[in-house]
Amino acid sequence: MLHSIGVIGLGVMGRNIALNMASRQEDVAVYNYTRDLTDDLMAHNEGLPVHPYYEVADFVQSLARPRKIFVMVTAGSAIDSVIESLIPHLETGDIIMDGGNSHFHDTERRFDQLQQHGIEYIGVGVSGGEVGARTGPAIMPGGTKEAYEQVAPILTKIAAQVNGDPCCVYIGPKGAGHFVKMVHNGIEYADMQLIAEAYSFLRVRLGLDVEEIADVFASWNEGELKSYLIEITADILRKKDDETGLPLIDVILDQAGQKGTGKWTSMQSIDNGIASSIITEALFARYLSAVKEERVAAATVLGGPEARETLDKDVWIERIRQALYMGKIAAYAQGFTQYRTSSELYDWNLRLEEIALIFRGGCIIRADFLNVISEAFAKDESLANLMLAPYFADKVQDYQTALRQVVAESSLSGLAAPCLSTSLTYYDSYRTANSNANILQAQRDYFGAHTYARTDREGTFHTEWQ
Ligand code: 6PG
Repeated sequence: MLHSIGVIGLGVMGRNIALNMASRQEDVAVYNYTRDLTDDLMAHNEGLPVHPYYEVADFVQSLARPRKIFVMVTAGSAIDSVIESLIPHLETGDIIMDGGNSHFHDTERRFDQLQQHGIEYIGVGVSGGEVGARTGPAIMPGGTKEAYEQVAPILTKIAAQVNGDPCCVYIGPKGAGHFVKMVHNGIEYADMQLIAEAYSFLRVRLGLDVEEIADVFASWNEGELKSYLIEITADILRKKDDETGLPLIDVILDQAGQKGTGKWTSMQSIDNGIASSIITEALFARYLSAVKEERVAAATVLGGPEARETLDKDVWIERIRQALYMGKIAAYAQGFTQYRTSSELYDWNLRLEEIALIFRGGCIIRADFLNVISEAFAKDESLANLMLAPYFADKVQDYQTALRQVVAESSLSGLAAPCLSTSLTYYDSYRTANSNANILQAQRDYFGAHTYARTDREGTFHTEWQ
């Protein structure tokens, strides 16, 4: 019997995707470049219909046509190698899906390359980590609608489900799926950094111990901040180190890693003139964290402010909660603005309402508040900025004082809060009807005759300033 789908790449994500498919009545062929991972999967295949192949040709021939091949290898040249190895064995109409975090420009290039061979290519954003891959991730497929229709029964089945709806919808042509996943990760960077800054304030400024902070996060997870990232942060803070008995968080080195998707989100926003400052600031916070030795040396040279008075814990815990929520609104506003603007630029027709809906389950940024985001775009598809939706406009009106207090107190205490303060700056900049950019225009015209526009009539003007 021919198998209904094949999975190539049996690292953590690939093997879990294969098991997920097999656990939902798919008959799955698997192949890995090296034999060890295939053997390991077969030793732990939970009795599911997973069939190992050790040659690409045999693997491809074992699949029902049109062949559906899900590739889950490290983004980059490994994908190109897999594609090269598959092309000689595939036929017109066969479908390759790339489930990794590929750059959307690479996906577009591969799409064009495979079109020449009559092979369909779907760039599939997959979010949810190891557990999500096995039990139900959020899935963001981009390619031709026709190819998507062929794989939709499988992808929607293996995706997370929220209220009976799969967290998988057709996103758009070519690289659109990987683009949506990329910006999801940018939002993820900002969300994580905002949480880290709330933690710092609670720990450093309010002097709460780790267990108390875990309780604060757990209680926040009962309310409007309810989300996967808040939930796991409470869990993380309760974990003890086996060796020392200390909270594990206290023995984890404060140098953040990254694999590039947050950087790509920032670079894309810069290239396309989109102010994604909170996302970019989260990236820079990781970069600064990485220069640990320099920071340790600087701490002995560069002084901070005098110690300040003790703060009322209950009052400030609520202020931090509100500040965090408002920071989140601003960060998601930037991410969704990037979706809207890029969709217009690339003519993708991204449906923001649906993107928010599929983010409700499976993915790393899943959160209750995505329901409200989806509703906001459902009510007004062309909403210029999430903060302008009536629900969020009211919310930021209510919470801005808390954000200002937390940012001001952080600043006066010498506590870095890059994403919280950038959220506030973004909010204040965005609501400024008359900005200081007239000064910039005048300066540009003064030193470079770059010209300026006037407020009172159409045209391009230059002044002889001296
Ligand atoms: C997800 C994650 C996933 C991965 C990131 C981590 O949605 O499942 O975003 O894709 O965890 O690549 O990214 P960094 O290593 O850059 O933090």
